[in-house]
Parts: sequence; C-alpha cells; structure tokens
Amino acid sequence: MPDIRITLLPDNVTVDVPRGESLLRAAHAAGVHITSSCGGQGTCGKCRVIVTKGSTTGGKTEKISDEEYAKGYRLACLCRADSPLEMQIPAESRLHRGGLDKPRVDKPTGRLAAPLADQILPAGGQRPVVEKNLIAVDPPTLQDNASDLSRTLRAIKKQHGLDTISVDFQAMAALPGTLREGNWTATATILHDGASRSGGPGEPRLVRIEPGDTAGRHYCVAIDIGTTTVCGEMIDLSRDQVIAEASDYNMQMKHGDDVISRMVFAQKGDGLKILQHAVTETMNGVIGQLLRDASLDRRDISHITVAGNTVMTHLLLGLDTRYVRSAPYTPAVNRVPPVKARSLGLDLDGYVYLYAMPLISSYVGGDIVAGVLASGLYRRDRNTLFIDIGTNGEIVLGNREWLVTASCSAGPAFEGGGIRHGMRAAAGAIEEVRIDPATCEPVVFTIGEEKPRGICGSGIINVVAELLETGILEPNGKFEKNVRVREGSDGMEYVLVPSERSGIDGDIVITEVDIDNFMRAKGAMYAGYQTLLESVGLTYADLDEIIIAGAFGSYIDIEKSITTGLFPDLPVERFSFIGNSSLQGARLATLSRELLADAENIGAKMTNFELADNKSFMDHYMAALFFPHTELRNFPSVMERFKNLGRTCGKKENRSE
Ligand code: FES
Repeated sequence: MPDIRITLLPDNVTVDVPRGESLLRAAHAAGVHITSSCGGQGTCGKCRVIVTKGSTTGGKTEKISDEEYAKGYRLACLCRADSPLEMQIPAESRLHRGGLDKPRVDKPTGRLAAPLADQILPAGGQRPVVEKNLIAVDPPTLQDNASDLSRTLRAIKKQHGLDTISVDFQAMAALPGTLREGNWTATATILHDGASRSGGPGEPRLVRIEPGDTAGRHYCVAIDIGTTTVCGEMIDLSRDQVIAEASDYNMQMKHGDDVISRMVFAQKGDGLKILQHAVTETMNGVIGQLLRDASLDRRDISHITVAGNTVMTHLLLGLDTRYVRSAPYTPAVNRVPPVKARSLGLDLDGYVYLYAMPLISSYVGGDIVAGVLASGLYRRDRNTLFIDIGTNGEIVLGNREWLVTASCSAGPAFEGGGIRHGMRAAAGAIEEVRIDPATCEPVVFTIGEEKPRGICGSGIINVVAELLETGILEPNGKFEKNVRVREGSDGMEYVLVPSERSGIDGDIVITEVDIDNFMRAKGAMYAGYQTLLESVGLTYADLDEIIIAGAFGSYIDIEKSITTGLFPDLPVERFSFIGNSSLQGARLATLSRELLADAENIGAKMTNFELADNKSFMDHYMAALFFPHTELRNFPSVMERFKNLGRTCGKKENRSE
C-alpha cells in the first residue's frame, strides 16, 4: 500500500505513513506526542486533533460533538488517514515536556521532611554498593608463576581484606592485558549487592579491572521509573555527591497512562517487548543526558540502581505481568537478583549491574520501599503514616517495630484523568484557584504562568476546597445555583476560565461528574488510611507524623486537602513532604550498602493488606463519599472553618433570584 503524507501543525513536520494508519500512530512516528491516556482504546477522549485538509475514516464517537466533528475534530487513535492530510494538534492534546522542566510557582505548605542522608549517613563514611579499589599486584617470576587471577585475588585480599570474592568472566578475561598495561597496578571494581538471596551478607563480586589508578572516576546512576516520568541522578561516589539530574516522560505513555492499561497492552502480541524497549529507551535517553551534563563518558558508569512500582519493575525486566493484574494478584518476583544492565537493553558496558529495589506486592513496589528507606520512618519510634498519591495510592504505616502497607486504586483523578479539563502538571495547568466569596469569581494560577489549558491534580484539590468553602458546592458534591454554575453536557458545571481567557478552544469548567470522580479518589485514600490504622489497633490520634511523598504530593495544599477529606484532620505541623522519595531511596541504596541491606529488610518485613475485597475498606469507602466525610466530628477544624466562612456565595445568589 503506497504511503501518504501527513503534515502536523503548528510544528509543520511531515511524516509518510501507509494509508489507513491511525492519526495517533502517525503523530508518534513524526515525533509529536499526543496525550493518549487510555492507550488508544478510544475511551479517554484526550487525543483530539483537528483535521484541516484531506479525508479520514472513523474518529467520530460520543466524545466529539456533531459541531466539533464538522469543524474537523477527531479522536486521533480511532481516526485513520485516507488521503494526504493536514492536522492541527491543539494545545490541550499535547504531551508537553514543560511540566518536567518548569519550576512550579508556589511553595508547598508544610515542612520538608529532613532527608535521611543528613540524619544517619556519616559524612564521607559510607560504604557504597560498588567500590573501586586500587591494587598493586606482584609481577610473576619463575619462582612464583601463579595465574594472573590468583595474584589479583591475593592482592585484593591482602590490601582490601576481602577473603571471599566471586569473579565475573568478563573481568577475568581482561586480566592478562590489563595487569601488564598498568605495570601491575590496577583498579578493581567490586560490587557488594547487599543482602544475599538468603538474607545474609552478599558475596562481593569482581566485575571490572582497569589498568592504573581510576578510583577517582567512580560514578553510579540512580533512577526512579515512574509510570509517567523517569527521573535519574548521576552520583559521584568519590565525593558522595549528585552531580547531574535529568528526567523525561516514560515512552510507555503512548501505550496507556496507567499500570492497568500497560498490563493490558503487555498481554497483546509483542506488547511486553515493546513496553520493555520503550522504558529502556527512555532510560538510555535520561542516562545520555546525565552523561552530557556531567561531561562524563559512558564507560565511567559503574552501577545503576532503580526504584519503580511493581508493574514498572516487571516491564523493565521483561517479566510477565498477567498474574499481577488478576486475583490473587501475584508478582513474578519480590527480590530481584542484580542483572546485567546491558541484557535488558540499556546502553551500558557489560560490567554494569542493575539493582532493582525489592517489591512487596502487585501494587506496592520498589518505589515505596525506596520511599520508606528515604523517609527513615522504619528507624524511628514515632507512628508514621507515609502516603504516596497517584493513580494507585500507596500507604505505609509503621515505626521501627513494624510496617504495614496497602494500595488503594484511587483512579486517575489526581493526575487529571477522568476530569473533563484535567491535565498533567505541565505548563498552562491550573494549579491554584481562589474564589472571591463575594462575587463567586475565580482567580486561577497556572504552571509557568501560561494561559490556562486545563487543571492538574493539585488544582483539582484546590478548586474543590474553594467551591466547598464558598458554598458553591454542597458536601454531597452537588452545585448550588450560582451565576457561574450552568447546565452542561455532563450535568451542572462551574466555569473556571471563559474561552476568551483560556489557552484552549472553549471554556475550562469543572463538572459534577469531575467532582464525583475526585470524591471517589479521595474517598479511596481516606478509607485506605482508616483500614490500615484499624488493622493495627490505632486511630488518627495515635499518628505522630504524616509524610507525603511524590512529586505531585509536594504541591498539595495540606489545609485544602483536609477540607476535601483527602487527608485526616490533624494539625498541619504533623505533615511533611519528602518529594521524590523513590529516587532518594535509590540514591541512598547506591551510597551505602548498609542502607541497601535496610531496603531488603524493609521489603521482607512489611506486611501487605489487600484492600480489593476487604469489607472494612468498602464500609470506610462508602462513608468517605462526602465532603469532607460523613463522620463530620472527625473533621472539627473543617467544620469550624465552614462556620466562620459562612459559605454564603451560592446562597446569596439563591436569595437574589
Ligand atoms: Fe484516543 Fe484515549 S481516546 S487515546
């Protein structure tokens, strides 16, 4: 079938594709990334494009109104090219890198949790997971002509006190030339991968031998593999310092936004291979950027540590996820033996091993183990609730004696999914809203101070809290009558930004359906905390600290979150933020083999609660489907604030009618 040419605007790039190709695939082939939350299933409605020239087939669903269809709007995933054509990618459909690079405008409320590194790692006293040891090997003589390997192991034992050591074939094969090239001085790279599979100390392993002294060039990479973004750090182990940071969207995004759609994709044909390739390509890009920024050569990297949720870890390793997804929810592995990075498709030398943080269960993964490690909560007496909010809300409760965990499926609302004008935290996303209680007029603040294109997760929390505080929204999630509330295609909606001020083609609104989706998401989180607390016989009053993890978490307004019932009504001083604790944990496990062993122990000691058919969880969930909660006495500060604010905005409008 002959190729036909597609031109993408406003980028003005062209791509030749076979007739019948979907516009979504054509755009990806042209390097233009379109939001495709459902992975091209035609259900999310996020991949809208405008065909301005040429003919197409398909792409008309209930997500596109007749009026929009007449203007050329199509769902790119369902619409196929039938002739050479031109299409416009609207701003709201684009997957921007802006959110990765642009600083957010507001500082979070609440404290920043002190990094564990500052609390327990003595400066300069770490024993990293991989060491570079300078050795002076005795040259052979006729009296002592033992093998090069024997002489090398003898030198390592004598000069560095390592009695038992295994040797990688690649290092062994390099010995004769390397020892002579360095005039019997060499640098031995030795990997200590923490605990062995049986729980005891792992056996050190000689992975690389270099001529001369290269101990000063000793670098490792730590990576957080998020479902959405992949973030990396280059660590200089000779100085215990992070010298470069880089991140990018996970290229798996084009096959679905969340772990469920990725697992569905993985089960089709070559899906698993495609997803593994997508994440290793993303990691190769991030590592390439780190190398450029730190002016290093690829061969300078000695080791890589990754932390990711259970599905991301499986997909990176090329492991089958089909049993992760369905009851009784069984991951393929919990503890992953170190694996050669190159064997996974990473563009690194054969001596570089990849260590993946241990996994707890199908939905509590290495990112949470890394987060608990970074927070240090497992070393303290205080009862701490650790919350990582995303599509899956992961919760850990514990102290130095015990740790329990659960994952609750919150749905995509916190990431802008299932929300009419929801979007990721990228440039143009509304992240803060203030509503004037006298006029009911909103003022919106966007990331990057650009024209508003949609609402990100922190913006949704903010707008729901403001609507509640002004009385425009009732605690049952229904709008009061108000000049800014109108009947829309999904029922009643509140106009946040009129089309003349928005950066998209139309008004930006928040609908009752959006609010219902948010209510379910926050209800699932709250029910999760309550179920875990009950499981260990505690109440909210017993909590000494609440740590909010995740890049998104750092931008949540604590008070507003309490107003909506997303967080328990506790003094704001008990909350703290830790940022990307998954990446921090991966870094710590690289810097210190003691902390890597701690990570293994956290993995072994954490008890997982499955909430999927837990009766108590379901009861708590139903009770949480109200703002802030049906048990109002559990939210005294919110009740007090509602009383003081009067919540008169909507009611005034009613009276004036
Ligand atoms: Fe097209 Fe979701 S509707 S990607």
